[in-house]
Amino acid sequence: MLNETRFIRACRRETTDATPVWFMRQAGRYMQEYRAIREKVSMLESLRSAELACEITLQPINAFDLDAAIIFADILTPLIGMGINLDFVKGEGPQIDNPVRTTRDIDRLATPPTEETMPFVLNAIRMVTAELNPRNIPLIGFIGAPFTLASYAIEGAGSRNYEFTKALMYSEPAAWKRLMDRIVTVLSDFMVKQVEAGASALQIFDSWAGALSPRDYAKYAAPYNKQLIEVAKKTGVPVIYFSTGTASLLEEIRGMGSDVIGVDWRIRLDKAWEEIGYDKAIMGNLDPVMLKAPWEELQANTDLILQQAAGRPGHIFNLGHGILQGTSVDMVKRLADYVHQQTAKVEVAL
Ligand code: CP3
Repeated sequence: MLNETRFIRACRRETTDATPVWFMRQAGRYMQEYRAIREKVSMLESLRSAELACEITLQPINAFDLDAAIIFADILTPLIGMGINLDFVKGEGPQIDNPVRTTRDIDRLATPPTEETMPFVLNAIRMVTAELNPRNIPLIGFIGAPFTLASYAIEGAGSRNYEFTKALMYSEPAAWKRLMDRIVTVLSDFMVKQVEAGASALQIFDSWAGALSPRDYAKYAAPYNKQLIEVAKKTGVPVIYFSTGTASLLEEIRGMGSDVIGVDWRIRLDKAWEEIGYDKAIMGNLDPVMLKAPWEELQANTDLILQQAAGRPGHIFNLGHGILQGTSVDMVKRLADYVHQQTAKVEVAL
């Protein structure tokens, strides 16, 4: 049933009645309904409650005309079950008080099955899809890519230069491989279980991949992404690979085999698609800061992206990265409606 929705059809590069739209981080602090929940419970509590995660997932779906939902979770959630003490510190973001720094730390990491450590995510997916299937709106499940997750586990927080990560990668390549293999084990099971619970597509977020040179990306990150994409594709749902700052890595990314490639605003959509090849769908690529610009500026940039997509089947409109805090909900609504209006194919009644 959901295979005939705009979003899933576009992932498969089939024609659609209008360009599908959804926004990365569409659930979050820019929405009053989200802030109201988070006033009462911490980030970790909201993630661990299937009821709250379900409610938060649906908030943007009820507020805007979006073509897909994304389950409310975090890419870092799987690290907790591996033995990493993760907390979300107000105003600072995720923090880890036992970062992975040595080969011994790596060998201590557990690889438990999803049901044991993240049943709340699976329950939230079941609850959301029970609500969304009758409304014909597909749900996207997701994971973080191994490089991005390993960087978080090693640095212990956000990082500018990824010095600990790269030091480990270069000086202990065997340990790096063991770490990546463990992350792949956990994420493979997690992706499969998300689809079994009801997800209609899977996205891999590699937000930090742009920190790597083309050679290092090919050597230390791409093989693990490729493994995960193979596992994901076996479930039968479309697979999206998203990264930022990776305009110079598109050839390598193309080779990893995802159905859809998400690109940021640092590259023209038409140039990116030409390089990736028209045998893949493309997602993107408005600068999220544009949602804070005057409407005319936002409109002109949206027009440009739609023009560059050239009406080719397989374009999914999105931002080049997540919606920022402080974004106006009115602008989000207006943008989603505008993309649909501008791309609507009018059926002529005979
Ligand atoms: O709506 C959605 O997109 C689904 C939910 C979602 C969250 N995180 C919830 C969240 C998704 C898909 C993510 C992915 C994620 N998390 C990424 C990849 C995408 C990206 O933005 O690069 C990364 C790197 C993370 C790690 C993370 N989680 C950071 C760096 C932060 C703090 C910075 C920030 O933007 O707030 C988080 C916290 C987080 N994850 C929040 C939300 C809604 C904010 C928590 C709060 O309410 O304070």
